[in-house]
Amino acid sequence: MQLGPFNQAAEDTGVAGFGEPSAGARQKLLVTGASGFLGSEICYQAASAYEVYALSHERAVPDTLAAWRSRIDLCDADMLSALFHQFKPQLVVHCAAMSSPEACEEDPVASELINIQSTRLLAALCAETGCRLIFTSTDLVYDGLLGHYDETAQPRPVNTYGRHKVEAEQAVKASGCHGIICRLPLLFGHGRLQPSPMERTLERWAAGETVTGFSDEYRSTISYAAAARGLLQLAESVPRHQMQLLHLGGLQTVSRFEFLQALAERLQHYCEQRVDATDNHRRPAHPTLVSAAASAMAYTKSGLREQARLLAARPADVSLDSRAAREFDLRMPFLDNQLDAALNCYDEAYHQKR
Ligand SMILES: NC(=O)c1ccc[n+]([C@@H]2O[C@H](COP(=O)([O-])OP(=O)(O)OC[C@H]3O[C@@H](n4cnc5c(N)ncnc54)[C@H](OP(=O)(O)O)[C@@H]3O)[C@@H](O)[C@H]2O)c1
Repeated sequence: MQLGPFNQAAEDTGVAGFGEPSAGARQKLLVTGASGFLGSEICYQAASAYEVYALSHERAVPDTLAAWRSRIDLCDADMLSALFHQFKPQLVVHCAAMSSPEACEEDPVASELINIQSTRLLAALCAETGCRLIFTSTDLVYDGLLGHYDETAQPRPVNTYGRHKVEAEQAVKASGCHGIICRLPLLFGHGRLQPSPMERTLERWAAGETVTGFSDEYRSTISYAAAARGLLQLAESVPRHQMQLLHLGGLQTVSRFEFLQALAERLQHYCEQRVDATDNHRRPAHPTLVSAAASAMAYTKSGLREQARLLAARPADVSLDSRAAREFDLRMPFLDNQLDAALNCYDEAYHQKR
């Protein structure tokens, strides 16, 4: 059932009373950012266990992903409050964001509204109603000078996106609601509703293009699928009456360049695929990567940060120590397995044979 804008849809469809959950009924899960990469994956994975209500903004969510759907600007406090009190969720996974550091740098006012203000509104509603909140934060709260950050490390963001996520985390904590603030690493994988950056890379290779990746930016990257599985599992396992800060990163740390190499190596049929290493402005390229690049791929050292025309400062190593999350019995697959799974989904979705 496509709902939206909410008030009108409520009249159209008679959803104005979602009602109280009956005994034995599935828990009600509200997913914000459901048209995005992570939110759509969460809707997909949660469908069998929860009654899912998917919220998006400009893009519609298909009925194959969630029965209940609305398009709403989460910064509209009145509409959000009306929708929230009618649906009465028991769990909110807040994935709506301006998630591109470049976009946040370009438009900090819009970033503040969606990244901080909407989080503050949702957290207040959760605190008021006893609903649990999972807030998706980022590894970019760190300055990247040390790497292997655990939850006790001091956030020192170097760009607007990171600063706004730190402020949003503080708003969640101040609200008194319960749940999880989860700092996620760089995500990759199959886009359920639109091609992901990884899938656009595959298309560029297929068109004979060379792809560049920083060899001096390290992340504990995981797939959308692994992130969604992890978040849903943590929602079940973390004690209910607290707000827990957790990192949900991968078992390995790779540079963006190494990630592209790992991806390229799995695609035997794209024998011409090329990956170029580029450097961020802060540090020289890792020497072993330079030689690996030179031997494995057509390597040309090109594209310094300035040439890449990036607005947002990019920290060097924001790898996450995620042992605390794994203490909740969370099994994180190895990067290779996550890449294989993502490529299988890509093949299935686009009927391509590798
Ligand atoms: N992707 C990553 O590598 C990564 C890494 C670490 C953390 N994270 C965090 O994980 C979460 C999900 O990221 P993602 O990559 O899945 O994001 P995404 O694909 O960019 O999706 C963003 C979502 O936010 C929605 N949205 C934006 N402005 C809105 C507004 N004013 N009102 C309501 N909804 C609005 C968008 O809706 P419409 O498109 O319909 O307008 C879209 O569904 C975010 O909190 C992000 O910061 C992501």
